[in-house]
Amino acid sequence: MEFPRELLTHLQAAEKVVVFTGAGASAESGIPTFRDALTGLWENFDPMALATPQAFDENPPFVWGWYEWRRALVANCEPNPAHYAIAEMQNYLSSLVVVTQNVDDLHERAGAKDIVRLHGSMHHPYCRDCHLPYTLGPVTQGGGEEVPPPQCPQCQGLVRPGVVWFGESLPSDAWERALEEAAQCDVLLSVGTSSVVYPAADIPRLAKEQGACLVQVNPDETGLEPFLDFSLQGPAGEILPALVEAAYEPA
Ligand code: OAD
Repeated sequence: MEFPRELLTHLQAAEKVVVFTGAGASAESGIPTFRDALTGLWENFDPMALATPQAFDENPPFVWGWYEWRRALVANCEPNPAHYAIAEMQNYLSSLVVVTQNVDDLHERAGAKDIVRLHGSMHHPYCRDCHLPYTLGPVTQGGGEEVPPPQCPQCQGLVRPGVVWFGESLPSDAWERALEEAAQCDVLLSVGTSSVVYPAADIPRLAKEQGACLVQVNPDETGLEPFLDFSLQGPAGEILPALVEAAYEPA
């Protein structure tokens, strides 16, 4: 695979890199994205019935069961070469921060050390009422049936998934860190995101405005095209390992 010389030079000279990831980074692990035609989760499920606080209030077992189904799916998947290539880049940079919209744990399972989670984590639920974190047991079902959520051991409130839903604010510490890293990085790689969900989708554009070289890895076009320095069209699991090798491990 050939890459523009100028892109490799940018990566070799970079001290700080931010990798901004979306569902496409986990696609080759077998986890469906949200908006891809036919296979996207939001093509087959109504986000307003599953990913809003109102949906959880109205039908907790339906929403909890859907997240348990997704947790079971993720438990049966492995990181793919894109996750490993991102973790590998840590060896060649003084700072590599993964700013992710994904709620799975595949970046950490691949060895990424510094992960900023803009949309929370499916593995860290908490009480809807008193916000006490709740420790999940092993996945017990994966068939998509309704499952009553656990109760909070402290206040008996309902435990909710630890993800950010539509209409909710992003966790402020994660958001502030993402802004800070976007402002300081030399290169931002936007990997596998349609870049349509705000405010997360502002991060690559803000990095570019503050001087970063902006690179996209995606088989399709996204809303980010006007801002890009380099567009690498194709699956992240093929492009990222080749890019890391070309930039940092040339023969
Ligand atoms: P989307 O489903 O909107 O976009 C996935 C992107 O991945 C698309 O641009 C695809 O072209 C691309 N893609 C598919 N396969 C790929 C591959 N093998 N390699 C690289 N790219 C690939 O997912 P997100 O952008 O992550 O929010 O969606 C953003 C947010 O919308 C999610 O975090 C979620 C959702 O509603 C919440 O749950 C709050």
